Amino acid sequence: MRELPDETRRALDIPADILALDELQMRRLGYEVVDRVVEHLTTIRDQRALTTGDLALLTAQLGGPIPRQGSPISENLATLADIALANQQHGDHPRYFARVPGPSSFPAILGEWLATGMASVASSWGGGSGPSTLENITCGWLRDALGLAPSCEGVLLSGGSMANITAVITARHHTGSGIIYLSDQTHSSIKRGLLAIGQPPADIRVLETDQTFRLNAVDLEAAIKVDLENGLHPMLVIATAGTTNTGAVDDLPSIADICATFNIWLHVDGAYGGPAALCARGRSVLPGLDRADSFVTDPHKWLFQPYDIACLFVKLPGALEDTFAIHPEYLKDVAGGAVEMQNRSLELTRRSRAVKLWLTFRTYGLETLDAAIDRGIGLAEYAQYQVESDDRLEIVTPAALGIVTFAGINCDASDHVRAAAQLTQDGYAAVSSTVLKGRTVLRLCTINPSTTTEDIAGTIDRLAQFLTRK
Ligand SMILES: Cc1ncc(COP(=O)(O)O)c(C=O)c1O
Repeated sequence: MRELPDETRRALDIPADILALDELQMRRLGYEVVDRVVEHLTTIRDQRALTTGDLALLTAQLGGPIPRQGSPISENLATLADIALANQQHGDHPRYFARVPGPSSFPAILGEWLATGMASVASSWGGGSGPSTLENITCGWLRDALGLAPSCEGVLLSGGSMANITAVITARHHTGSGIIYLSDQTHSSIKRGLLAIGQPPADIRVLETDQTFRLNAVDLEAAIKVDLENGLHPMLVIATAGTTNTGAVDDLPSIADICATFNIWLHVDGAYGGPAALCARGRSVLPGLDRADSFVTDPHKWLFQPYDIACLFVKLPGALEDTFAIHPEYLKDVAGGAVEMQNRSLELTRRSRAVKLWLTFRTYGLETLDAAIDRGIGLAEYAQYQVESDDRLEIVTPAALGIVTFAGINCDASDHVRAAAQLTQDGYAAVSSTVLKGRTVLRLCTINPSTTTEDIAGTIDRLAQFLTRK
């Protein structure tokens, strides 16, 4: 028999358990992590909503040369929890009202842990039939609960940015390239994505929204007609169901009619607002979701999931596979099954994001989730009531899908930016300022069901004090 080369023998002398931890140690460390997370969740109300660290200090605490030798894992876990993970926004904090909160729930966290611990994979059917089935089922539950067209097929992606652009790539594959229509309230990630996939800037129409920050259907139709007269190909309309700034919902039925008349693909970005359709009050302001050719919603925003998870639905069966399927020789053994999630987007190796969402649906049930979302809508209405009762403040846009904007009376733009920064720096709460048709305002996004009316009142009162204390 041929002798093995020395270097091969040396490599094989390295113990097979080189990376292993013993069972007791794994359990002890696992419980340590559980304890830390439960402590975070149960004391969160007393913690800061957002902490932004200093780069030099954080680098000194976390960096240094790459370790040649290992160090005790317990100490390293503590460094991660107490330094790295303490210096961030806590989107799950009951007084985190900035941008879009991420109020994840404990069942979803457990689902994420389990999926990671068991190396979940939802790529090929042959290699991930269980997780792929979960994804298929969970997307189907969500599709039906949202009232989307029954033929919609889904795929879970990392966030609204990736899901929206995956929809655009699918639409373009089916309709051919052409003009894309958006509004000035379309999320900025979409414009970035369009440019990244080579959409010529001259073929993007950004239409001005009306006074309620909605895409104006009359203007849209007029723009389409001008392009047709000029021999151009209107290809895609991107409407928004819940804008990030104000929670506005575009007039989907009218826009869908226009798209049907001119044979244009209708994509609806419900990354933020979509989950509201799970409850009756949200559904009542979101008519026409079933008319979308493609639809995106982000469970890591308003469906109580930790980052990351977004869901893209496409109405035309097989359209995702037509666009993204690959059939290389090295995947033949595992391909060709019932659901090939690897063929529904640009992601090949992909963890199962469905585990946490499936566990959330099964644990709480739709009725509890409906109520938790409804509470978020109600909290913004309560915030509006508080602002209206305060003679230092005025409403700019009324509560809509969990978002309300307001301003200080006789205050200028810098007063608002300063007030938001001061409150956030204080640590009591985190809020955003934004600009609406040139006016700088304060904005609360109230989708965390654990927020109390006292949290809202305390935040608004502090903001009013900061605004008026010049
Ligand atoms: C309406 C809307 N679309 C898209 C996005 C982008 O989503 P993500 O940050 O998950 O990529 C957001 C984020 O806030 C959003 O509010």
